[in-house]
Amino acid sequence: MSGKIVLAYSGGLDTSVAIRWLIENYRCGVITVTVDVGQGEDLKLIQEFAERIGAEKHYSIDAREEFVKDYVYPAIRANAMYQGKYPISTALSRPLIASKLVEIAKREGADAVAHGCTGKGNDQVRFDVTISALAPDLKIIAPIREWGLSREEEIKYAQEHGIPIPDKRQSQYSIDKNLYGRSIECGVLEDPSVEPPEEVFEWTVAPEKSPDKPEYLTIGFDAGTPISINGSKMDPVTMIMSLNNIVGRNGIGRIDHIEDRIVGIKSREVYECPASIVLIEAHKDLEKCVLTRHELAFKHLVDNEWAVAVYSGLWMDPLLEDLNAFINKSQERVEGEVKLKLYKGACQIVGRKSPKSLYNQKLATYGVDTIFNQTKAAGFTELWGLQTKIANIARRRLER
Ligand code: ARG
Repeated sequence: MSGKIVLAYSGGLDTSVAIRWLIENYRCGVITVTVDVGQGEDLKLIQEFAERIGAEKHYSIDAREEFVKDYVYPAIRANAMYQGKYPISTALSRPLIASKLVEIAKREGADAVAHGCTGKGNDQVRFDVTISALAPDLKIIAPIREWGLSREEEIKYAQEHGIPIPDKRQSQYSIDKNLYGRSIECGVLEDPSVEPPEEVFEWTVAPEKSPDKPEYLTIGFDAGTPISINGSKMDPVTMIMSLNNIVGRNGIGRIDHIEDRIVGIKSREVYECPASIVLIEAHKDLEKCVLTRHELAFKHLVDNEWAVAVYSGLWMDPLLEDLNAFINKSQERVEGEVKLKLYKGACQIVGRKSPKSLYNQKLATYGVDTIFNQTKAAGFTELWGLQTKIANIARRRLER
């Protein structure tokens, strides 16, 4: 043992207690790492906490651009929505954070990495699987899975060791944040019949309090990737931050659903993901213009596999590369602009255009200048309905 553990540190209660607990229980030096994926926390303050609690060294890594480019944008190309509702915002950040932990562990010659996940959630799976795929020899320590402390015991431990404790109102909830979404769990939310109180929301206004005038938004895509808002080109981080703001102020982006965790638990999950909702809706609409119906039907299956795999911690599985090969090829034609209307909690698509569109007005029009030959349709419907007709004849014969 080199006596060094690299810990993913958020500045919250769990990982703060973990610093001291690792030092005491493993008799090791602890190196803390905070990866900035847009959680909007004060990184200086987090570093101060870490050092005050006993970390021998601290790293702050700004990974926001990498997060959007290499994790969020692929998710948009895959229209990733777990169980039709959750844009997998937390899930996407985990393999990135895990890869940074491994990088630092190698640089520091550490023998172990540690994370603050519980044994009941998805995040432990995502961290453990990614870390072991990247560095099979690194030991993984998850103090919270090991120590069996209740929330109260944790607070007591923190008090005894002079560890800063987050304020009461916040501590009722367990919150995870990154550029692509905010997740809120625990407290009153554990009763799935109770409406989430207004205090849990930070990025979205209640639809009833949103402006009385609709706001229009045009999103431009190239190769399935968002590149502009209302005609202005935008870098990835600014793109997501601006969309969260525009969409959130119109009361759009709140999600409340029952989710199946990897470990089998059903849980009630509340999220705020404003940018993801408009990006995926717009992207899907544009795909409908440029992909054939056969491609769309197959891509729908691939997209679902993609979301389930990433949700389930399989970012490093070769399956992801295989699915990406199909998705990226299909995205070569996904270019154009989609116009949305945002109003009081609803996001409506009201227009789209693409230089690669398969829409042909001369085929679709009911006007006189159509190029579609209707006389061919009679033969088509006869063959198309052949088996349906025969099956019904056969059923009537049996019923007699
Ligand atoms: N259920 C979500 C997911 O599995 C949110 C997890 C939030 N994580 C957290 N540590 N608070 O992705």
